[in-house]
Amino acid sequence: TLPKHVRIVEVGPRDGLQNEKQPIDAATKIALIERLADAGVSHIESGSFVNPKWVPQMAGSDEILSNIHRKNGVVYSALTPNLQGFGRAVLANTDEVAIFTAASESFTQKNINCSIAESIERFEPIMSEAKARGIKVRCYVSTALGCPYEGYVAPEKAAHVAKQLYDMGCYEISISDTTGVATPASTQRVLEECLKLIPLEHLAVHMHDTYGQALANILIALQMGISVVDSSVAGLGGCPYAKGASGNVATEDVVYMLNGMGIETGIDLDTLIQAGDSICTALGRDNGSKVARALLTK
Ligand code: HMG
Ligand code: MG
Repeated sequence: TLPKHVRIVEVGPRDGLQNEKQPIDAATKIALIERLADAGVSHIESGSFVNPKWVPQMAGSDEILSNIHRKNGVVYSALTPNLQGFGRAVLANTDEVAIFTAASESFTQKNINCSIAESIERFEPIMSEAKARGIKVRCYVSTALGCPYEGYVAPEKAAHVAKQLYDMGCYEISISDTTGVATPASTQRVLEECLKLIPLEHLAVHMHDTYGQALANILIALQMGISVVDSSVAGLGGCPYAKGASGNVATEDVVYMLNGMGIETGIDLDTLIQAGDSICTALGRDNGSKVARALLTK
């Protein structure tokens, strides 16, 4: 059964921009975040408190999170890989944080410089600090549908990691196709495994669109009852530790599909398209949303 309402988690300002080589000033990033909120996006991943040597583009997240003109009812979240990052997030007044590990060891090593088990240990103090402060914690299981170094990842493996994060107290587990290799069949398989261990309302999907399968995969997730979808305005992005991975599915394309299916998002498509167009112009980059391209040339 399809959900009536879908919550979009907009990851463009983080996942979309983290890989961008050219410097982007804080004002441009803040303008993007504020335009997304104006379009009705209720959850915006706005930065990343990782080691700035690893991901230089996210170095200014402290300034971004501190200076957004906040809109009531909008969650402004950020990635926190360790307690040091969590401390920065708190200082910058971040509403919610997200921790991230993966379903494959090689990717975890490359991405966060530790094993999966070590990453879980590292998250323990974040969870207790977050609980003490009443900050909700979301999480990602990267490479849940395939690994750029190991290839096939068993769906049971991904579900097991997801369950560990759920048991730690993460309110939402975003099952991530880091390199966009999933098909509707593999998406269904991994979600079926996750649903054996985790209640439906705690699962989300995070689909990169490298192979052009993201919308089809999201449709399968919706048909299974999943009602939280991560996406990136204008299809911005890629992962610095997953070579060749393109951006997340474009938010505009997801909203267009959901509008057509009569599923509410609370997002105004035209305002969203303007937000995506502005950042693409600022970056001198082609718009990665097919829907935006079609409607902007009308
Ligand atoms: P490490 O080098 O093992 O950390 O990095 P460390 O604890 O050994 O510290 C080394 C240095 O880093 C120290 O500084 C620390 O202070 C500093 P030094 O003494 O050398 O001057 N440091 C920090 N500085 C600021 N903020 C911090 C922080 N932590 C340490 N939070 C670490 C471990 C996890 C930090 C590192 O590997 C890292 O930052 N990785 C992030 C990688 C990343 O951001 N990847 C992209 C995001 S994930 C993604 O895109 C996937 C997702 O979209 C889902 C999907 O699509 O699959 C979420
Ligand atoms: Mg991602």
